[in-house]
Amino acid sequence: DIDQKVEALLAKMTLEEKVGQLNQYSGDNTVTGPLTINPNKEQEIKDGKIGSLLNIMGSRYTRQYQELAMKSRMKIPLLFGLDVIHGYKTTFPIPLAEAASWDLAAIELSARVAARESASSGIHWTFAPMVDISRDPRWGRIMEGAGEDTYLGSAIAYARVKGFQGKKLGDLDAVMACAKHFAAYGAAIGGRDYNSVEMSDRTLWETYLPPFKAALDAGAATFMNSFNDINGVPSTGNRHLQRDILKGQWKFTGFVVSDWTSINEMIAHGFSADKKDAAFAAITAGSDMDMESSAYRENLAQLVAEGKVPEAIVDDAVRRILRKKFELGLFDNPYRFSDEKRQQKELNNPENAKAAREVAAKSIVLLKNEKNILPLSKGTKTIAFIGPMVKPKRANHGFWAVDVKDIDSTYIVSQWEGLERKVGKNTKLLYARGCGFNDTSKAGFAEAIAVANQADVVILSIGEKHDMSGEAKSRSTINLPGVQEELVKELQKTGKPIVILINAGRPLVFDWTADNMPTIVYTWWLGSEAGNAIADVLFGDYNPSGKLPMTFPRNEGQIPIYYNHLNTGRPAKNEDDHIYVSAYIDLKNTPKFPFGFGLSYTTFAYADLKLSKTALKRSETLTASVTITNTGKVAGEEVVQLYLRDKVASIVRPVKELKGFQKIKLAPGESKTLTFTIDDNMLAFYHANLDFKSEAGQFDLMIGASSEDIRLKSGFELLESQGVNKDES
Ligand code: IFM
Repeated sequence: DIDQKVEALLAKMTLEEKVGQLNQYSGDNTVTGPLTINPNKEQEIKDGKIGSLLNIMGSRYTRQYQELAMKSRMKIPLLFGLDVIHGYKTTFPIPLAEAASWDLAAIELSARVAARESASSGIHWTFAPMVDISRDPRWGRIMEGAGEDTYLGSAIAYARVKGFQGKKLGDLDAVMACAKHFAAYGAAIGGRDYNSVEMSDRTLWETYLPPFKAALDAGAATFMNSFNDINGVPSTGNRHLQRDILKGQWKFTGFVVSDWTSINEMIAHGFSADKKDAAFAAITAGSDMDMESSAYRENLAQLVAEGKVPEAIVDDAVRRILRKKFELGLFDNPYRFSDEKRQQKELNNPENAKAAREVAAKSIVLLKNEKNILPLSKGTKTIAFIGPMVKPKRANHGFWAVDVKDIDSTYIVSQWEGLERKVGKNTKLLYARGCGFNDTSKAGFAEAIAVANQADVVILSIGEKHDMSGEAKSRSTINLPGVQEELVKELQKTGKPIVILINAGRPLVFDWTADNMPTIVYTWWLGSEAGNAIADVLFGDYNPSGKLPMTFPRNEGQIPIYYNHLNTGRPAKNEDDHIYVSAYIDLKNTPKFPFGFGLSYTTFAYADLKLSKTALKRSETLTASVTITNTGKVAGEEVVQLYLRDKVASIVRPVKELKGFQKIKLAPGESKTLTFTIDDNMLAFYHANLDFKSEAGQFDLMIGASSEDIRLKSGFELLESQGVNKDES
């Protein structure tokens, strides 16, 4: 039915109008790339030369622009896109932090709330989720993804698309998702944003593409290509990625939007001679919509007239976009998402704040609690809350927080407010800033020390400012900026119990603090409810359950460091083995904190690992069961992780790979038996010729509380299928 409507409409459109549908401009207020204001935007909308706008938000503004589109000859509604990355008015933890929850329901809920809020404000389309795997914490955009692991990243990609798109597109609480950045943007050399990517097809398929496939399987309506070149070809002009893989092999029926001016940037890449050449490369490669380059608007009609670009290619791109506009119901009512009453109601829904608080608490990772200072007692007499992160509100939002315009401003509970609300009247709270995020001056130290000396407990909240990680925010050193670690050292000398909160948009290096301070909580950038969620964890109203979605390096020289590495021919025997092994002579061989690591206020025992069989055929499944017991005094959640290792293969396999996880909640003394099912698909891998298949032989099966804390280990054999020889490819 929709296809017929699309064809009927397409048949009436001029070539110029078709090209217009492929053209996307930014609003002038918020810009998310190098500034390129288009002064004739309003007239061009009336002329049918624009198919979509980004960075316009709010029911009032979107309606105003839609009214202009309704003045065009074909009256084709505009699509409004926006980077709703971790919430809209209510901000949620940055995606990397949410990944630390390993809680797919919570992650889906966060996307659901973001969809409800933004869809009520006229937004049809979010440029999320970012599903780029990255093993480099220097890369600023690490904050926007799910971390280093393909399995976890794929599960999260799926959950987030489901959350954004709800039951179905066209519902008033759903926005189109956009899986980005296709592809391998997270593998930028040196972690420098926009940098080139060099990788084998095998690695691309094995590590970087699966989260995109998961997003597609979840129904992602759109994809965005990426700024980087990959093996010398910019993704925007990459026919293999977009036409062969995405639209061919994967049969993607939605549309691909370019990244901001990424069509023009193919000139700087040295791939296209000029804008016309870039437009040719992008459209023929399968980039359907041009974000901010104006390359299509200026050149596409001429390229068709000259016979260089078949009109059928333009038609295909237009069809894909029109189909989504129909699915969203915009032809029935172009203003259906721009409803001030619904906006008011949705943006002030107290359930949203509740969800943000819960998800934020689940995202917090307890790294150290050696002296059991945590949880704090609510009867503590005097608490000194010190640090650059305590009072400012904006920093908790993190990068990519939407600056919501035509509604009362975004809200945030600062860390100070959260603590104030938590403690009773009998607790005295003292404050000192100590230093700024990036200060070189120690002028504030004396006040901080004086305040600490008056307290029973000190909470020191330090880290990165909101603009120190994010797009174009790569760092060559990922330490605690400025004199913050100096402040830690000075406060330690007071001898007071100190709780360190580290707020950041990436894994940081804080070696001295990690070695010398007994109590460390990683609080990332947690969003609107940061203050409440942190207070919940500090006082034990929420027992921390987060686990790191990325390996934390000891120093920058150790990057890239990731848990699922190959063994090499000379693996180190232990963390101090440096004798002719694959190691740095000046560093321990282990990370500072491993992937999957995080503590709780309780402890868990792992026992009774039982495999249903010791050998399986490809057509069979095997189950592994394990019993987990809460051996502590308080209720808590544990993320039980399943890792596999293929011991011998024609392509060497990682020392371990995450292949399953379950997050469970247990009361003190309670036990639960969990079952993991292993099938042939989990044992398969990409071969040199890109065949995805398993090889018969021995596998290790490991169950652990982190990638290094393997509690139980067993093994099984995958049997040769009858009549099939061991693969030799
Ligand atoms: O969606 C983003 C993208 O991830 C990076 N460049 C700008 C786009 C639109 O804001």
